[in-house]
Amino acid sequence: MKTGETSSECPIGVFDSGYGGLSVLREIQRLLPQYDYLYLGDNARAPYGTRSFDIVYKFTLEAVKYMFDKGCRLVILACNTASAKALRSIQQNDLPRIDPTRRVLGVIRPTVEKVGEITRTGHVGLVGTPGTVKSRSYDMEIEKLYPDLHLYSQACPMWVPLVEYKEFDSPGADYFVKQELDRLMGRRSDIDTLILGCTHYPLLYDKIVKYVPEGVSVVSQGRITAESLADYLRRHPEIESRCSKGGHTTYMTTESPEQFADLASVFLSREIEAEHADITSRPTC
Ligand code: DGL
Repeated sequence: MKTGETSSECPIGVFDSGYGGLSVLREIQRLLPQYDYLYLGDNARAPYGTRSFDIVYKFTLEAVKYMFDKGCRLVILACNTASAKALRSIQQNDLPRIDPTRRVLGVIRPTVEKVGEITRTGHVGLVGTPGTVKSRSYDMEIEKLYPDLHLYSQACPMWVPLVEYKEFDSPGADYFVKQELDRLMGRRSDIDTLILGCTHYPLLYDKIVKYVPEGVSVVSQGRITAESLADYLRRHPEIESRCSKGGHTTYMTTESPEQFADLASVFLSREIEAEHADITSRPTC
């Protein structure tokens, strides 16, 4: 797949506050290499995880509108915080007004669907940003889909900065990962499934696996989201037929493109080029 291309006609949009969504994009590209993609990281305003509901909604809506202007007819919020705090309002209030034929999807529902198939004890752990945990979005999805499951949530405010500052391999990362997982497992010892409810966390995967008890399934969202997107495109030919298929990906960031490309290559395990996105100075839809 070529990278750093100029924007394609109708790419599938993948959005995150920063780098985390790249862990989802990577799996989507693997499973569905034929489509064009536009990745947008709002690095200039990340992290979102500690921001208020209204601000996350405002930033996410700006990003979605920007991606629509770039030709996306379908945008995946590859960010739990944005999915938790902005997705429903955008779907219910903004899309009908902006363009009812376009779609915005999130990562929480497909993750919960999968987790219900994995757990045997019925006790599921969630690690996420303070914003995701406080929103109770996972609790609400679980109550809807699997009312018999019990969810234990742990906010991990230090984990995203550890990734954003490339400290995910450091002894400091060991300290903070162990601390939060001990807190979580201390509340219920038969948790058998752990949701990585933040798209940054796959970079901490090795440390997370090291500190959870043996036998706990650690669920990251890349593959799950990719499979869910493939299924969605199969069920919605009216959307699928409008997605351009050139196998190109454009990477955009609201911060410095050079800085973005540097850490993005760690997430993607290959070099990329990025462009700057000025998402706040666009005409409003
Ligand atoms: N990657 C985002 C998520 O999945 C969180 C990063 C942030 O706090 O901005 O929630």
